[in-house]
Amino acid sequence: GSGPAAGHGHLAAGSTRTTAESISVADLTGPRTGTPDKRFTLTATEAKMNLSSGAVIDAVVFNGQLPGPELRVREGDLVEVTLVNKTRNVPTTIHWHGIDVPNAEDGVAGVTQDAVAPGKSHTYRWVAGQTGTYWYHSHQQSSTQVRRGLFGPLVIEKKDAPQPANVKEFMLSSHVWDTDKGEVTSLNADDTLRREAVAPGTPVRIRLVNSDNFLKTFTLTGAPYKVTALDGNDVNAPTDLSRVKLPLGGGGRYDLEFVMPDGPVRFADLAAPQAGLLLSPDGKGELAPLTEVPEFDPTRYGTALPTEFGPDSTFDRSYELILDNKPGFFDGNPYYLWTINGSVFPDVPMLMVREGELVKMTIVNRSFLEHPMHLHGHRVLVLSRNGKRVTGSPVWLDTITIVDGETYEVAFKADNPGLWMDHCHNLTHAAMGMTVHLGYE
Ligand code: C2O
Ligand code: CU
Repeated sequence: GSGPAAGHGHLAAGSTRTTAESISVADLTGPRTGTPDKRFTLTATEAKMNLSSGAVIDAVVFNGQLPGPELRVREGDLVEVTLVNKTRNVPTTIHWHGIDVPNAEDGVAGVTQDAVAPGKSHTYRWVAGQTGTYWYHSHQQSSTQVRRGLFGPLVIEKKDAPQPANVKEFMLSSHVWDTDKGEVTSLNADDTLRREAVAPGTPVRIRLVNSDNFLKTFTLTGAPYKVTALDGNDVNAPTDLSRVKLPLGGGGRYDLEFVMPDGPVRFADLAAPQAGLLLSPDGKGELAPLTEVPEFDPTRYGTALPTEFGPDSTFDRSYELILDNKPGFFDGNPYYLWTINGSVFPDVPMLMVREGELVKMTIVNRSFLEHPMHLHGHRVLVLSRNGKRVTGSPVWLDTITIVDGETYEVAFKADNPGLWMDHCHNLTHAAMGMTVHLGYE
């Protein structure tokens, strides 16, 4: 059919007919030789898993964990990860979200590799060139597989400044699970309040991943805190925030830091206050109410990453992406399809660049939902949001959440040859059209 690869998600082989046939990703690999500094095995299996409330998930998991195990490496490490597929019938891959790996290591089924069949394995090798909070997830039928649990967190520590040992760290993935009790919102596998004892004076870091589809709004009450990283990139001058709403689109990350006070601290998704994290000196304590508070604007908090270009640069290419929706059919049922410039993938013309070019993209959201747009293989610099130029420190993101009516101008340097995805990280939207390829001429 001519629909958006019906039944295959957005990543299926054969769904790439706008792709230039001449591009071969086979040689664009990470280092194939050399002893890895860190070696991991991620074994995928189907499993019945429980949330903290007892709700049951018909899950697919890595290493029997929900979410998958945290992979922690150091900047500069040669990382080797072997995916072993021990599922009965879930062909899968692993994509390193936000990490600009060589193209053949990107884990996109049907684009950079074939999905790894049950009984088979695949080894990824790449050098950790960035630092911060990332995550990994399946990129085969990802709207289904990520939802069912094929994802986990990934941290790259700084070579010269590893995290001090006294920091108490919480790695939290915000996720919505399909359970025997319906859809349940949780942090990791906790859909009930998680209580932890933390001694006053302890530095605390929360690494938050939105592994779900759709915008979530978080809040932290009980302590002044700082957002210290956006999508893994350190914020240049973190400011104290108190009870500010933190909007985070699908795929995005925040690092939050604070010093544990004498009283309780609560961290929660405003839409799922029954879950969340409650820290207090003795693990007990009252819940502070969650109230409406002002909203954090990530484009006002630049990162410490330098940039060679900005709003005043001359760009070699400019693209405009209008995000919208139109009625259509998916898997034979009527649905809203999600469009880029009026087309659904794979009918969206591929974005073409040449190596070394500076590329500007103007992304306009004309639909009624937010779209967290994620470009693989390249970090993206925000030039402006709704006409307001970013003038302070550069804002680097890998997932740009554009809400209804908004316009973002962003830019990237075409410095990682290959064939890449650019898609909405509401993965159901990506599967239903909101996907485009980026290719190198
Ligand atoms: Cu995190 Cu193409 O995805
Ligand atoms: Cu979307």
